[in-house]
Amino acid sequence: MKLLLVIELDNTLIVGDRATATLNKSLAAIRHEIYLVYVTGRSYASSRQLLAPAQLLPPDYLITGVGSEIYQQGVTLDQNWANYISKDWFRDEVWAVVSNFAALKPQPADEQTPGKISFCLDMTASLEVIQDLHDLLTFAGLRAQVIFSNGRDIDIIPKSSNKGKAVAYLQQLLQVESVATIVCGGSGNDISLFQLSSPGIIVANAQTELLWWYYKTKYPWHYLTHYPNAQGILEGLIYFNVLPFPNTWRSQPISN
Ligand code: GLC
Repeated sequence: MKLLLVIELDNTLIVGDRATATLNKSLAAIRHEIYLVYVTGRSYASSRQLLAPAQLLPPDYLITGVGSEIYQQGVTLDQNWANYISKDWFRDEVWAVVSNFAALKPQPADEQTPGKISFCLDMTASLEVIQDLHDLLTFAGLRAQVIFSNGRDIDIIPKSSNKGKAVAYLQQLLQVESVATIVCGGSGNDISLFQLSSPGIIVANAQTELLWWYYKTKYPWHYLTHYPNAQGILEGLIYFNVLPFPNTWRSQPISN
């Protein structure tokens, strides 16, 4: 069975550094043994801009908009997923509820998609706004979820979606078991990935919201790395025995 490897882009696999190139090389060596999935909070348009100049391996799937869209080969929208999550999603009504909150400023237009509306929380506002928003949406009978990331971003997506649910959909589609899946992430919108019962790699530079959740749950199938970003992913993949331990240390003389 192939391994389903899910890597978050923004706060996890920062593109363009040396470690990213090393990670790419290592993944290229096992490419035929894995389904490679990139996942991001960005809209599709914005994630293409990020990916275009990057020297990343082409993925089998690209999950965008915090799990609200899935693209086969990174280009073809998965219409079944789109249809499934759009049931019971009343985008305009959700937007109308959010407009009651002065502390929430809309993100740029290219981050607003059919399945995701995104805001920035005013730096001076209390975090209680998030709970209040959630309560008001529930009170209004709107099946939406509020996701807080990066100490600032607020995404509202259909209740039936999120990154974890999108990965669970792919597990079913590709017939890959939970234990044959590894998820890697670093911010609040990755919590749903780590709620799957699959091994998980949390990079050392993870955002506070995710670290807080990690220390609260402390599930033994999660590994918090010592290194940040791509280096951290490499470390985690070695920890989970997906990649061999680099044997270069053997050629180093041992000094006292
Ligand atoms: C990315 C997206 C932004 C989103 C954030 C958190 O930065 O560009 O729209 O709010 O991720 O998911």
